[in-house]
Amino acid sequence: MKTKHMTKTRKDVTSLSDVTKAELEAWFDLALKLKAEQKAGKTHPILAGKNLAMIFQKSSTRTRVSFEIAMRQLGGGGLYLSGNDMQLGRGETVADTAQVLSRYCDGIMARVFAHSDITTLAKFASVPVINGLSDYSHPCQAVADYLTVLEHKGRLKGLTLAYVGDGNNVAHSLLFGGAKLGVSVTIVCPKGYEPQKSVVDQCIEDGKVTESRILVTNDTAAVKGADVIYTDVWASMGQEKEHETRVRLFKDYQINATLMAKTGKKDTLFMHCLPAHRGEEVTDAVVDSPNSVVFDEAENRLHAQKAILVSLMAGR
Ligand code: CP
Ligand code: NVA
Repeated sequence: MKTKHMTKTRKDVTSLSDVTKAELEAWFDLALKLKAEQKAGKTHPILAGKNLAMIFQKSSTRTRVSFEIAMRQLGGGGLYLSGNDMQLGRGETVADTAQVLSRYCDGIMARVFAHSDITTLAKFASVPVINGLSDYSHPCQAVADYLTVLEHKGRLKGLTLAYVGDGNNVAHSLLFGGAKLGVSVTIVCPKGYEPQKSVVDQCIEDGKVTESRILVTNDTAAVKGADVIYTDVWASMGQEKEHETRVRLFKDYQINATLMAKTGKKDTLFMHCLPAHRGEEVTDAVVDSPNSVVFDEAENRLHAQKAILVSLMAGR
């Protein structure tokens, strides 16, 4: 099946840093089409007979279920592989694993600690590789998130997203995506927890083209005017030992009614990639408020990833 969405120029999605605005917009269009079809009960077995290997070195609810269901709804299958149970956990190299899985499967999705594991998989696999979260980035999350903003606000360009919390993998992907799409991104974080400088520098450059303003600050007053307030856990997977220290350092960055009011807007969306640590980075009152779209984001992981899977795997 060949459509304008399936150009086959890209083999992998490792980060949004090298994804273009046109690719993002094509994924949104296709995701919305597939979402409407699925809601109408129309099947779309575009990836019939294709199988996706899904490697998990870390826990997951949304990524695991949404990718597996995505493959099933596209007529194919998803194979859950726990990193610990694979020979990978006993020292087989990532490069060898990539080559072996390429002989059985039509694509590989991986959730890893070191981002270099994703780039190594992509280098050695002959099939497409998708980053399902690394310590550096979470591209599929940001695609689903901007799709969610688009649905709720009817546009992206000219909006401002304020991410309040740890300058982590999710913050990096929101920065890359926002800069490409013309969404201004303000990162508000405690001193020492800023996103990586190389990410911010690239996004400032990308943002010059799309009129996206990129700002990193320690001052929560910077959320003024934000169309979206976004947060994530204060201690990511792998940082469990830092949890107590982070709770102390991040306490003024909690998203509560007072912080939401600082936007000065009544219709600011609240977003979170989930899982949420309720009572830490966000209060129950905010996450359960009418402004919260956290479950729409979770649902859109399915639709956005179907678009990504089709664009990478159909016709290959
Ligand atoms: N948001 C997200 O990636 O969730 P999981 O960790 O449950 O996959
Ligand atoms: N930053 C979080 C995101 C989880 C989906 C983590 O890496 O644990």
